[in-house]
Amino acid sequence: MGRMTGKVAYVTGAASGIGLACCTRFAAEGAVVIGADLIEPEAWKEIADLAPASGFSTFDVRDEDAQLEAGEAVRATHGRIDVLVTAAGVAGGGPIHSLSLAEWQRVQDINLTGTFLSAKAVLPAMIAQRSGSIVTIASVEGLEGCEGGSTYNASKGGVVLLTKNIACDYGLLGIRANTICPGFIDTPMFRSVYGSDATAEVREATRRQHKLGRFGRADEIAGAALFLASDDASFVTGVALPVDGGYTAGHGYGVAAMMGLT
Ligand SMILES: NC(=O)c1ccc[n+]([C@@H]2O[C@H](COP(=O)([O-])OP(=O)(O)OC[C@H]3O[C@@H](n4cnc5c(N)ncnc54)[C@H](O)[C@@H]3O)[C@@H](O)[C@H]2O)c1
Repeated sequence: MGRMTGKVAYVTGAASGIGLACCTRFAAEGAVVIGADLIEPEAWKEIADLAPASGFSTFDVRDEDAQLEAGEAVRATHGRIDVLVTAAGVAGGGPIHSLSLAEWQRVQDINLTGTFLSAKAVLPAMIAQRSGSIVTIASVEGLEGCEGGSTYNASKGGVVLLTKNIACDYGLLGIRANTICPGFIDTPMFRSVYGSDATAEVREATRRQHKLGRFGRADEIAGAALFLASDDASFVTGVALPVDGGYTAGHGYGVAAMMGLT
């Protein structure tokens, strides 16, 4: 029996990267998985093979009506929603003096308001069944500042506190809420920002900030999401969990390497 047998999981950002890896892992662990994204990916066939009752909805996470309809549809079809993972998100930002209001707002709307609307879509089912696990995907950039972050960091900091607030509001109803703060994970989003030769130096400096000396993989975030979603985390709520290869453990200036610790 898998760690998610009998559970219905709803995952946004399911077409790519971290969201897709969560869907694959949850399906392999026995869950029925309902994915949501702007488009249905080719890879969804594999998930449908692993978990035949699974399904996919296409919509924009900023669309409140579409979100609420999708949540209702999952509940009507499967009778419950046990898990929400909010992985839909975009990169973006820049120093404030050169950032347009439109770009600021786009990132806030998708990353933060999209997370709020996804939680709003599943909470009626979770309240009715008096159980549920909400796993949001924030970032190490939601825990601390970094050069060029601005709207992205602000949106992810908002996701961290929104998640803690969900934990405060709904704990007595048996609903848990936790957020994962990934370090830099090799996904299409990461490659769109750090994939070019022009960013090679910054990419290398960023890699070194991970004390394990490498970037992460999407399946490593899915493993943490599985823990938080599953009954193994039955007493864990309100946590912002860095899954970051030590990125936020402290500053690294190369002393470990100087002392031969390589
Ligand atoms: N990759 C990293 O290094 C990293 C680090 C920390 C946090 N994150 C966060 O993890 C989450 C997943 O990122 P990823 O790296 O897998 O990126 P990704 O680009 O591979 O996947 C993101 C998915 O979100 C979907 N999406 C974007 N806007 C949407 C919208 N308006 N409506 C519906 N779906 C939308 C995209 O279509 C895409 O499938 C994001 O929230 C991201 O901010 C990523």
